[in-house]
Amino acid sequence: MAKLQSLLLFSVFTLLSLPPGLICSTFTITNNCGYTVWPGVLSSAGTAPLDTTGFSLHSGESLPLQVPNSWSGRLWARTHCSNDTNTGLFSCATGDCGSGKTDCSGDGASPPATLAEFTLDGAGGMDFFDVSLVDGYNLPMLISPADAGGGVGKCTATGCVVDINDRCPSDLRVVLSESDGESVACRSACEAFDKPEFCCSGDYGNPNTCKPSFYSLIFKNACPRAYSYAYDDATSTFTCATGVNYLITFCPSSSSLKVRTNNPIATGVPLINDTMVFLGAVTSGAVAPARPLSAVAVIAGLDAIRWTWRQGLLF
Ligand SMILES: *[C@@H]1O[C@H](CO)[C@@H](O)[C@H](O)[C@H]1NC(C)=O
Ligand SMILES: *[C@@H]1O[C@H](CO)[C@@H](O)[C@H](O)[C@H]1NC(C)=O
Repeated sequence: MAKLQSLLLFSVFTLLSLPPGLICSTFTITNNCGYTVWPGVLSSAGTAPLDTTGFSLHSGESLPLQVPNSWSGRLWARTHCSNDTNTGLFSCATGDCGSGKTDCSGDGASPPATLAEFTLDGAGGMDFFDVSLVDGYNLPMLISPADAGGGVGKCTATGCVVDINDRCPSDLRVVLSESDGESVACRSACEAFDKPEFCCSGDYGNPNTCKPSFYSLIFKNACPRAYSYAYDDATSTFTCATGVNYLITFCPSSSSLKVRTNNPIATGVPLINDTMVFLGAVTSGAVAPARPLSAVAVIAGLDAIRWTWRQGLLF
């Protein structure tokens, strides 16, 4: 209780000590997995960074993060992390940011990793967010608006609550050790095979030619609300009125720990089967100027943006 009180006091003082209007919303990050995860945060160029770029979150723990006005960037969870006994360097089997420390300090997740992508106050007084499996998958994740969001836009939970590691094809699996064989992440076909038809590059660099693949459909069927490949339908993007708080939960349902993996409805994410709407068809819409990062990548030229993401040049 005392701890809670001091936390609350601390929060109040933090709020009071900042210029008015700077705090836009709170992201409450919760680890519902049966194991420790190490969330990583990458802020986009030109937005105020968060207080942290990486931290540990034990099973059952939550951490509120204050997120500045108009923030954009991505969050993910690193798993199976340790300090090397010889070098002392920190690294993770999935989602590693290569910094050698718990802080990611401006480095992004190495794929495969499930990504939460945000553009707060993107356009028209709306926040844009999505969960992306375009760079592969490492664990179940849910983004849900903490408050009603004024009933504006498509302000509902999105994510991937299913354990795709279980159903990951053998040629996409990431395993901790060959002998053990247990999948800890599932690569995207683009990363695994580096082919234009999977990466939506070259002749496949537009939504008319780059179609869902056998591999992206495995992701899409498991998690219909998440982006499964670069030109996935625009219905994977969600919006809330700016100022809403968000809950980001890793392993949102206990069922996503291992068994009964196929029951997203139980956690309040209904399976949806929207008509495919390619981004190219909606660019003239009112919200076109600002999009979540996946969508930005699609519109501005996937190769260039993804390359810069990988190189960390955008940040
Ligand atoms: C790695 O070492 C740092 C610094 O000593 C420590 O804070 C952190 O908890 C360690 N992480 C792990 C996974 O052991
Ligand atoms: C969506 O529904 C239509 C009509 O019921 C069906 O033909 C299609 O296969 C479904 N798509 C997915 C991805 O489930």
